Amino acid sequence: MNLRAYLVVLLGSLVALAAAAVAPPRAAVAAGDEAALERGRYLVQQVGMCINCHGSGLKGAKLDFLAADLPAAHFAPRIAGLPHLTAAQAVTYMQTGLLPNATRSRPPMPQYRLHHDDAVAVVTYLKQLR
Ligand code: HEC
Repeated sequence: MNLRAYLVVLLGSLVALAAAAVAPPRAAVAAGDEAALERGRYLVQQVGMCINCHGSGLKGAKLDFLAADLPAAHFAPRIAGLPHLTAAQAVTYMQTGLLPNATRSRPPMPQYRLHHDDAVAVVTYLKQLR
C-alpha cells in the first residue's frame, strides 16, 4: 500500500470511529415488544422500587421522609410516560446517570448503571404509562 492509499484508509477509519462515538445509543424501543415490557415492569415495580419515591402511578411525589434541610432533591418528578426525556435520552440516563444536558440527578435518585437491554426494558415500560 502506498502512503496515499494508507492515509485514505486511515482517514476513513477515523471518520467511522468518530461517527460511532457520537451515534446515539440504540434506543430500539420497538412497539409491541412484550418481553421488554414485562421485564421493564418487573425492574421498575419489583427491583428498582421507583414507586417509593416517584409516587403511586409514578406521577411524581414530594419526598416527605427527607429532613427539610438535607441538600437533596425533595421532589421526585413524574416518570410515567417520561415527559422530559426521549426514549434514547432515557436509555442513556438509565445506563450512565447522565441527563441530556450532561448533568446528573441529585440524591436520593440512584445513579443507575443498567445493562443496555435492561435500560431499554425500563424505558419501554415507563414510556407507555399514562
Ligand atoms: C430514593 C428515591 C428514588 C428512587 C428509588 C428512584 N428515584 Fe428517580 N428520582 C428521584 C429524585 C429525587 C429525582 C429528581 C432528582 C433531581 O431533581 O435532581 C429523580 C429523577 C429521576 C429521573 C429524571 C426525571 C426527569 O424528568 O429529569 C428519572 C428518569 C428517574 N428518576 C427514574 C427512576 C426510575 C426508573 C427508578 C426505578 C428504577 C427511580 N427513578 C427510582 C428519586 C428516586
